[in-house]
Amino acid sequence: MSNKRVLSGIQPTGNLHLGNYLGAIKNFVTMQNEFQCFFMLADLHALTVKAEPKILRENILNTAATFLASGLDSKKNVIFCQSKVRAHTELSWILNCIARVGWLSRMTQFKEKAGNNKEKASVGLYTYPILMSADILIYKATHVPVGDDQKQHLELCRDIATKFNSDYNKDFFILPEPIIPKFVSRVMNLRDGTKKMSKSEESDLSRINLTDTKDQIAQKIKKAKTDNDPIDANIFNEKSNRYEAQNLIKIYSNLKSETLDEVLNDFDGKTFANFKKYLSELLVEKICPISEKIKQYRSDEQELVNILNAGAEKANDTAEKTILELKKIVGLL
Ligand code: ADP
Ligand code: TRP
Repeated sequence: MSNKRVLSGIQPTGNLHLGNYLGAIKNFVTMQNEFQCFFMLADLHALTVKAEPKILRENILNTAATFLASGLDSKKNVIFCQSKVRAHTELSWILNCIARVGWLSRMTQFKEKAGNNKEKASVGLYTYPILMSADILIYKATHVPVGDDQKQHLELCRDIATKFNSDYNKDFFILPEPIIPKFVSRVMNLRDGTKKMSKSEESDLSRINLTDTKDQIAQKIKKAKTDNDPIDANIFNEKSNRYEAQNLIKIYSNLKSETLDEVLNDFDGKTFANFKKYLSELLVEKICPISEKIKQYRSDEQELVNILNAGAEKANDTAEKTILELKKIVGLL
């Protein structure tokens, strides 16, 4: 195994969906065979917006079950809850004092999530990328697989690491590289191809959940927005605004492991009504086995808790070392 180290996290804020799967988890599964990996449930990040305690608990267990059901191996990887490793929040404070207010003000995700009422947003939502930087830097991760929407947060993390190293004149933090899937870096909303597929979108018809049944998948694809034109090679032309069509073709190409050109060739001249049947079948083939396994993992709560606790123990070993070194560097006793 190389000395590269991977860390990524997902917020347990609801059912994971196809966007999380193609943008993040599928990549995690490939990386687990090559690298030392830390996969984290960002449960503290989930508190940045109001979370009902009982629902948060369920979401944490569901997300853990989804990680395992998607093929992440708890023996090969360190799978754990962020809140079980105190060093994340300790480092987060130190990094709060390194990062500049102006840097945070530029974060587009905060602007999107806080909407028109920024004054009423939690301070946690604003400083969220600093905790995320701490998650990464505490393990000295070299690579961070994420979807395209997290790229700016990764840039901020690199800026913070660079400033820390320069302020303290040490080569302490490693600058992490984002790993963003080339093909489907952003899976779009099935009802509006200009928005990303998201857990927080109100309409369930806008996304394919990894817990969806065969019928739900078929129904959602049937109702997915498209246009009336047939499939042709121009769909991906720069000037094309067939966003929904592009999204469905990209999803198919990724799941089928075929290039966009191959898919466009196979379906050239066909209608979307026809294409959707194949897409539905493919989704059912790939997603339903995962949803079955989620149910199995969810049926033994204690086993899930044991797996997360064992992961936290390993994560703590690494994180504690970093925090001790850091305290020395900054002059704390
Ligand atoms: P959500 O936005 O649905 O709440 P998260 O913010 O928890 O999802 O994202 C978890 C991971 O999934 C991140 O790596 C993120 O980049 C990726 N991701 C989320 N939505 C999408 C999407 N629509 N397309 C591709 N990747 C996504
Ligand atoms: N902010 C990420 C998201 O919303 C989740 C996350 C938290 C994360 N900590 C991380 C991702 C560290 C990568 C690395 O998707």
